[in-house]
Amino acid sequence: MNVNGTPHRTIWLADDGCTVEIIDQTRLPHEFIIVPLRNLADACTAIRDMWVRGAPLIGATAAYGMALAMVGDASDEGLTNAYDRLFETRPTAVNLRWALDDLKALLTPIKPDRRVEAAYKRAADIADEDVEICSKLGDNGKPLIEAAWEKRGKPDQVNVLTHCNAGWLATVDWGTALAPIYKAHDAGIPVHVWVDETRPRNQGASLTAWELGQHGVPHTVIVDNAGGHLMQHGQVDLCITGTDRTAASGDVCNKIGTYLKALAAHDNGVPFYVALPGPTIDWTLHDGVKDIPIELRDGTEVTEIMGRAPDGTVTTVQLTPDGTNAANYAFDVTPARLVTGLITERGVTEASTEGLAALYPEYASN
Ligand code: MRU
Repeated sequence: MNVNGTPHRTIWLADDGCTVEIIDQTRLPHEFIIVPLRNLADACTAIRDMWVRGAPLIGATAAYGMALAMVGDASDEGLTNAYDRLFETRPTAVNLRWALDDLKALLTPIKPDRRVEAAYKRAADIADEDVEICSKLGDNGKPLIEAAWEKRGKPDQVNVLTHCNAGWLATVDWGTALAPIYKAHDAGIPVHVWVDETRPRNQGASLTAWELGQHGVPHTVIVDNAGGHLMQHGQVDLCITGTDRTAASGDVCNKIGTYLKALAAHDNGVPFYVALPGPTIDWTLHDGVKDIPIELRDGTEVTEIMGRAPDGTVTTVQLTPDGTNAANYAFDVTPARLVTGLITERGVTEASTEGLAALYPEYASN
């Protein structure tokens, strides 16, 4: 997607063919800074400290992290060490494990002197595949927005509510939840987005608002608690969110607060869709609420907040009294029964074991 009119992806290979470049998302929306990743340690830091974030982008960065690791040490030991270190960076997004398993299976049978080339090629393919998948999510989700607009007699505005950032910044390009919105906007459907700010890290207020603005999509940032009120008053036509891990049963784990939006949508008869690429499905899990481990992050993300001061400096300030305890649960699980449908690259399906199995029979039988 475009940044100041220039097309960008979120991760790419530098001209030297070896260094990986990313956008430091902790600096957005105030600063657009490109950061080089030169080795395994850089890739681990980028994921752990959320310079890159969002399930599909975490997967693509992990794949490039394996390639960077092979440059440093392509031995069997180096391979295992890279897998383990990248694996422990963030626990929720299953795309991380998916990408690491993919690279490990590819590289293990290859002689060490061929591993660097093979790893870079596969990482590039994973990135390209993500772009293709997300574009298809957009194509498959766009008709849902169009139908909601038509159902209300094609008013001046069709309102979609989204949570966190599930846009192109969370993927390699296009996004998951935002891909249908971009496609609808580009097709002339007057889509307007309610953007949950998404405390504590404010991925909605900082990242979703920024990328929608860059593409010219009308949007309004709301506090996380406003969605229920808007739904009660007919101001939300549908909700679309992303997911970091989807159980085979259709339960979806996404940024903390998604579950409350789904409850409010259910109570108000507002359709609640979740957009996901196939690699986000964890076929080993059948009860998302019980089985998906929830990332617990540092409490300072709750007690402090970053923003731009009137003099232009980007700074962090403390919100709470000194010494206040904070619990920082980063994700929650929305049970399948609250999800109207799953938007995938293979089509839109019911959030259920049967619905997912019908779209992905080759995995569901495992
Ligand atoms: O903690 P983050 O910013 O990595 O969380 C991201 C989300 O919750 C997204 O909604 C999710 O990754 C799905 S989007 C592609």
